[in-house]
Amino acid sequence: MVPDDYDVLNSVLDDGVAQFVRAMTPETDAVFNEMATRNVSDEFPIVGPEVGGTLRIIARMTGADRAFEFGSGKGYSAYWIVPALPSDGEIVLTDFDEANLEEARSFFERGGYADLARFEVGDALETYRQYDGQFDLVLIDNLEQEYLETFELVADDVPSGGVICADNVMAGPAVQEDLALAAVQGDPDWDAMDETTAGVVRYLQHVRDEPDFETSLLPVGEGLVVSVKK
Ligand SMILES: C[S@@+](CC[C@H](N)C(=O)[O-])C[C@H]1O[C@@H](n2cnc3c(N)ncnc32)[C@H](O)[C@@H]1O
Repeated sequence: MVPDDYDVLNSVLDDGVAQFVRAMTPETDAVFNEMATRNVSDEFPIVGPEVGGTLRIIARMTGADRAFEFGSGKGYSAYWIVPALPSDGEIVLTDFDEANLEEARSFFERGGYADLARFEVGDALETYRQYDGQFDLVLIDNLEQEYLETFELVADDVPSGGVICADNVMAGPAVQEDLALAAVQGDPDWDAMDETTAGVVRYLQHVRDEPDFETSLLPVGEGLVVSVKK
């Protein structure tokens, strides 16, 4: 069973609504469920099932062949995406921490998805620069201070109909929610904002005004902002 105790996450949904959404997430396998249980008991900061299920359907709706993730941790979010990729598809997982990616690799191997996955240790932005071609789905879950730079790095490469998602934009351990809301409503108090919140706000302002993309904010998990290339 997928664990239903996600108290370690800061959800923007109240408990009852979150339970409802979780009850409707796409199917997961036994290996995934073990991975989810491990991440939750380790209190590792995963995207959670509401965002995971959303990523799965975005991958399916866009017909994504290739996905790139900035900040993969132990592979939880990537494992939500990978079942939606074709058998010749590819997903690139990145993390500073080799132990995280080794854990991810072992779950992907046991789940039968290792052939689709690349595990890249090091700075995710540097890793991205070493890859050629287009990624139809990009998940930004690295440091919030890097969100805007990450978007600008990938934006031109995303094909029409491709999607860039960024997590933790409404809540989270370090996002100052009231300041972020005031800022996107047009009243930013940059002096009061910490670096994380300022990173999120700069990102939201940029994607909202970016003419090549259409952006909408989905209130799931800690807030997932989704930008589709026109
Ligand atoms: C929130 S966790 C990722 C969780 C993962 N997406 C999931 O839901 O399973 C963020 C991870 O990003 C990694 N990270 C942050 N900035 C990074 C960067 N520039 N390059 C590589 N890894 C980065 C951290 O080491 C951490 O493991």
